[in-house]
Amino acid sequence: MDNSFQTIRVGKNDLAYVHEILVADAVEHGQDGAAAVRGFDASLAQDDFLSSNCFWLLIALDHGRAAGYLSAVRIPKGDARKAFIYVDELWVLQAYRRRGIATALLDEIGRVGLEVGARGIRLITRVDNSAGRALYQRAGFDLQESIFCQKLF
Ligand SMILES: CC(C)(COP(=O)(O)OP(=O)(O)OC[C@H]1O[C@@H](n2cnc3c(N)ncnc32)[C@H](O)[C@@H]1OP(=O)(O)O)[C@@H](O)C(=O)NCCC(=O)NCCS
Repeated sequence: MDNSFQTIRVGKNDLAYVHEILVADAVEHGQDGAAAVRGFDASLAQDDFLSSNCFWLLIALDHGRAAGYLSAVRIPKGDARKAFIYVDELWVLQAYRRRGIATALLDEIGRVGLEVGARGIRLITRVDNSAGRALYQRAGFDLQESIFCQKLF
């Protein structure tokens, strides 16, 4: 496995990496990269989530180029389990897949979870996402089928 990449916990000085991965991600989706960057910047201007101790954005860098990212939040449980880390987004650019980058990002958010005393990590993946299911199984997650519920405002 090529371990030439590193993972960073994004802070305000790392916005260039965020913009780079947003543009690349948008291009892979056939979307407008500039619009993705504007959307991120507007969201950050409204809510300073990069300064939060309940939100993390991780980026994997391959020789200094953004190759994948993971975002996650901490939700307190209010009981002895203290909190769970919920992974929201996990994406590896196609050219960088099957090199352990998603695994490294999960490992890093696992270290975050241990640092903040969380009980574990939870996330949702689609039943038909065979790559995601294989990834999470290999990373030691217990997979249980659920129904995802969402109401948009
Ligand atoms: C799923 C995804 C994040 C995996 O990223 P990745 O960096 O390629 O994953 P890794 O290299 O860490 O893979 C670790 C293991 O997961 C499994 N795996 C990963 N992708 C797989 C695939 N396409 N098919 C089967 N198994 C796969 C393998 O067991 C792999 O180990 P191996 O390469 O030694 O066989 C990536 O394919 C992706 O970004 N997909 C689109 C977005 C997505 O589905 N995100 C998750 C939604 S919750």
